[in-house]
Amino acid sequence: MVQRSSGHLWWQRGVVYQVYPRSFKDASGDGIGDLQGITSRLDYLRWLGVDAVWISPFYPSPMADFGYDIADYRGVHPMFGTLEDFDGLVAEAHRLGLRIILDYVPNHTSDEHPWFLESRSSRDDPKRGWYIWRDPASDGGPPNNWLSVFGGPAWTFDAATGQYYYHAYLREQPDLNWRNPEVRVAMYDVLRFWLERGVDGFRVDALRQLVKDDRFRDNPPNPDRWPASPPYDALRPVYSTDRPEVHEAVREMRLVLDEGASSGERVLIGELYLPIERLVRYYGEGGSGVQLPMNLHLISTPWEAARLGDLIDAYEAALPQDGWPTWVLGNHDRSRIASRVGPAQARVAAMLLLTLRGTPTLYYGDELGMRDVPVPPELVQDPYEKNVPGIGVGRDPVRTPMRWSGEDNAGFTSGRPWLPVGEDHAEVNVEAQKRDPRSMLTLYRRLLSLRRSEPALTGGTYAPVKAADDLLAYTRETDERRFLVALNLGPGPLTLGEAGLGRGGRVVLSTFLDREGEAVGETLDLRGDEGLIAETTTL
Ligand code: NOJ
Repeated sequence: MVQRSSGHLWWQRGVVYQVYPRSFKDASGDGIGDLQGITSRLDYLRWLGVDAVWISPFYPSPMADFGYDIADYRGVHPMFGTLEDFDGLVAEAHRLGLRIILDYVPNHTSDEHPWFLESRSSRDDPKRGWYIWRDPASDGGPPNNWLSVFGGPAWTFDAATGQYYYHAYLREQPDLNWRNPEVRVAMYDVLRFWLERGVDGFRVDALRQLVKDDRFRDNPPNPDRWPASPPYDALRPVYSTDRPEVHEAVREMRLVLDEGASSGERVLIGELYLPIERLVRYYGEGGSGVQLPMNLHLISTPWEAARLGDLIDAYEAALPQDGWPTWVLGNHDRSRIASRVGPAQARVAAMLLLTLRGTPTLYYGDELGMRDVPVPPELVQDPYEKNVPGIGVGRDPVRTPMRWSGEDNAGFTSGRPWLPVGEDHAEVNVEAQKRDPRSMLTLYRRLLSLRRSEPALTGGTYAPVKAADDLLAYTRETDERRFLVALNLGPGPLTLGEAGLGRGGRVVLSTFLDREGEAVGETLDLRGDEGLIAETTTL
């Protein structure tokens, strides 16, 4: 059945752009990005052609995990600005037709959050039950074998009250107890606080962690662990993550989101590193869950046509009736796409991301082909790298400043940037790439504009054509238009035969930006590392 594009909601038609606020644009000159900096670059995002901006946390925080340890859910860290700056950002974004999506971190607070300070003050404190406190095991050790994602046990002993508290991440990030109704009420009010300030949706951090096994059973060993994997992978976190009760909480979040707005006007996106069959459950019964359970599989799937083809097919097949797909190429936690697949294939990846069926999320700087910037040990900031050094889990290299120009510090700051800008910023920057008709930035902009103007690329059906050797090809189609996307994932030339070409047509876009309008006959030749979109006539 051909799906029409009309009737799609903004977050179905649109493209999300992730901003890591420390690294986007520094207006104050302290070397760290801020809200005014983001506001000053919203016109760039508009020009680029994205629809929504997801901003990673900017709330008051001791910054143990760079803002994912929140000490006040309703404020702005002075380093990033003020609530007035935030209101100004929302107003300007809306004026430009951009939506704002905030990072909502419900699983844990900072250990400096007043709730936790109260909770740890005594066993009888009314907020004791807001966090997860357990007695030591009989040998005095942690209550069970659960591990912290960032290395070491997930339990920290509090000598003053003689109990352990649970933290899925750092010990500075104690987990809230979502089995406690008071916690839920307080956390739903956080959503309301920002909704009233005009935000258009939330990306829910660490969603799979939200509710834990009520019996705190030990996690079983992970037989599939490979030797160099992080210590967390030693166990299968079946009792500490993805518990059935998470879905109940998600349904409630959705109800809050839909208060005073028509259903679907605001979007809930879940951060979910889960296998596909478990991921799709987060759409919820009858669509009562998150509208976009983040599909992060493009980040981990080997860059091979057959593997990618299988992934897309498996995902498309697993989606529930009304489940809208979504794809992500990169984020602030994982190696950048241009480093994972190389600069040539990063262009092909851009075409894949922006032509697959579903809402794409684009990570800041990927539109320039930014690569991971090596950060010398003495400059390491990321607590994960500090806890688990030397195996490549550090996230600093993917969080380096956005490059605006070829100037010193890439036009990011007039001060000293909190992370190095990298050595190739003379070429890899917005100003230079804007001028270059064949740049990565130009490619992204063309892809985004094509997506916007061609309903088949948003609402059209997806059908696989070929996924073998180095060729990944598929069609996107409505009743009116049919596009063939052919991606060469290797360095050598190849030819796509008749299958999928229909009765010929014309090239709409090549990742090399030099074949527009070329006629397509019975075969289609692709150069090495080339991706092509052709409009073809339906058979
Ligand atoms: C996922 C976030 O993306 C990551 O940056 C953070 O460290 C953890 N959740 C903990 O909040």
